[in-house]
Amino acid sequence: MSASRRFFVETWGCQMNELDSQRLSGLLMQEGLLPTRNPGDADLILLNSCSVREKAEQKVYSRLGEYRQFKRTREALKIGLCGCVAQEAGRRALTRVPDLDLVLGPARVGEIRGILARLEQGERIVATGFPETRRYDFDAVARDGSHKGMVTIIEGCNKSCTFCIVPMTRGPERCRSMTEILTEVEHLVDYGFLEIELLGQTVNHWRDPASSLDFADLLRAVAETPGVERLRFVTSYPRDFTPRMVDQIGHHSNICPYVHLPVQSGADSVLRRMGRGYTIQEYRQLIESLRDARPEMALSTDLIVGFPGETDEEFAATMRLVEDLEFSSIFAFKYSPRPGTAAPRLGPPIDEAIADDRLQRLLARQQRIQSRLNRSLEGSTRQVLVTGWGRKPGTLTGRTTCHRIVHFPAEDEVLPTALGTFTTVRIEQALPHSLLGRAIASPAT
Ligand code: SAH
Ligand code: F3S
Repeated sequence: MSASRRFFVETWGCQMNELDSQRLSGLLMQEGLLPTRNPGDADLILLNSCSVREKAEQKVYSRLGEYRQFKRTREALKIGLCGCVAQEAGRRALTRVPDLDLVLGPARVGEIRGILARLEQGERIVATGFPETRRYDFDAVARDGSHKGMVTIIEGCNKSCTFCIVPMTRGPERCRSMTEILTEVEHLVDYGFLEIELLGQTVNHWRDPASSLDFADLLRAVAETPGVERLRFVTSYPRDFTPRMVDQIGHHSNICPYVHLPVQSGADSVLRRMGRGYTIQEYRQLIESLRDARPEMALSTDLIVGFPGETDEEFAATMRLVEDLEFSSIFAFKYSPRPGTAAPRLGPPIDEAIADDRLQRLLARQQRIQSRLNRSLEGSTRQVLVTGWGRKPGTLTGRTTCHRIVHFPAEDEVLPTALGTFTTVRIEQALPHSLLGRAIASPAT
């Protein structure tokens, strides 16, 4: 392809998809294609999709329909469906979307360069499934943004939560080696990232394929890599957290005191139907040990309401849990039945209006809790990693170590304040979902 060819990648879903899109972009740029922000200008459009809930999946097809319109004026345009919907639909997507050119599963992202040449020849391609050997060119990732270097350490998922489609779309678990991960971390530090984020569906289930090293050892090794100022990891699975991992978090101040720990429900009976493999008491103990390790620890979680057969009492247990544990934020979803999963057989469906009502009540309760927690930060000073320009002109946005969003005016006298660097901010006002502050010159607490 000549250098004037352009590509456009749209990303939905989780951080793993975000990183896959950065990988796709990097590989396409190596082939001489240029990125564009306007799909109307592109010669290749890739939609990196998410199938975790039904709504997102439906939207994929209407978006592809919009992109097909561009083919009227740009005959050479190629359109690809990537991500979890691609893996799930496979060849069927080609029938459903008549002029779709490519269906690319998440485990085949590394092959895009060879695929591109075949697309050029007019071939319609389905590349799905989970090949044993996969390419991961970490040096060809078009790293988006300047503040956070993401590193996949474990792909796929071996759990079998009864509501979840991810094990089918992302395949069985595969861990990258310690050596490979550390080389990538060093490369990212060298590139200038102050924050490293380790990624996986069950990130703390990582094991070195060649030794007995586990996630606790990896946490230590990455935290002790010179230049890693902040270390995060997502998503942890409650049952896979060991005391050794908690110890590492306690011992390394550059491991951020923030853990995302999906609990899904506050009722043991629902957790059993979900096949999660832990009890609420175990979950509470884990949270306690994390808070003991680092008093400033902030925790967030995922919750599903309206799981098949969820009773008023079971939902009340979720409300109680949220009240007691004071999460810094929650991601709450209405249960969505997914093809090939066991959950629909595990209880009667919950009426849509009841599920809606439960979701609203849960979010309202959490909003009050978050407002209270955030207000307690007013007057304190925080170290903020600047992540981007704010929506209001002349403002910047950043994250505290606890992952809270902070907005503050970009003031000349406290510069150098640049994207991807640290600044100290005094928190002046708390909102439920963010903090407003002012950059100051003194060191942060
Ligand atoms: N690996 C992560 C979650 C992956 S999916 C874990 O350990 O939980 C991200 C979130 O989407 C899940 O935590 C769950 O809360 C939500 N989710 C997954 N399947 C869902 C479904 N069928 N309906 C509603 N929410 C779902
Ligand atoms: Fe899904 Fe459970 Fe794995 S929520 S991603 S099956 S840990």
